[in-house]
Amino acid sequence: MNMKSNFLVVSTSLNQDSKSRVMAKIACDSLKKLGAEAEVNWLDLQEVELPICDGGRAYEHPNLPAVKELIEKADGIIVAIPIYNYASGAMAKNLIELTGRAWTEKTVGFLCAAGGRSSYMSVMGLANSLMLDFRSLIIPSFVYADGNAFDDAGGITDEAVRARIEKLSSELIRISNSLKRAA
Ligand SMILES: Cc1cc2nc3c(=O)[nH]c(=O)nc-3n(C[C@H](O)[C@H](O)[C@H](O)COP(=O)(O)O)c2cc1C
Repeated sequence: MNMKSNFLVVSTSLNQDSKSRVMAKIACDSLKKLGAEAEVNWLDLQEVELPICDGGRAYEHPNLPAVKELIEKADGIIVAIPIYNYASGAMAKNLIELTGRAWTEKTVGFLCAAGGRSSYMSVMGLANSLMLDFRSLIIPSFVYADGNAFDDAGGITDEAVRARIEKLSSELIRISNSLKRAA
């Protein structure tokens, strides 16, 4: 078994001014800083075009193998999600529909950007599906930030949110590494 840890940060918002993408970048930097020798990869769905899952021909898309490989080789994954209509944005769900079993037994943490405070349970549908279908281990302390956590330029102004992202990153490392050692 490769003992060098491997982490992946996925940004799923297609908005060029995405706030969850800002959160994802902070997580990526934290993992690089805290993860010592770990390999940290970045997957931005604004940079990699993926088809909408149709349960058929979409699985033959040429961009899919590289994306699946990034997920498969990761010990732990942080997924940054925009909240739309009281649920995870469709691109995050679409990614899981396209890559399915690649998520098996991964440790997964979520970063959510929302407009308001009341959608804080929105990520649970996605979390449940990862747990039930692929036995992913979901880190309970996900990060939820509403519009007040950001300035007009999209930078994070709420230091508590930044600290929670760093905490989630360190939890991802701690849990993934413990599971790797125990395997
Ligand atoms: C179609 C749409 C639906 C949205 N639905 C919600 C919602 O249910 N709850 C909420 O708090 N914010 C909602 N928002 C606000 C977004 O969550 C917010 O703009 C967030 O910053 C999106 O993440 P992003 O900046 O990474 O794209 C919605 C925005 C859009 C465009």
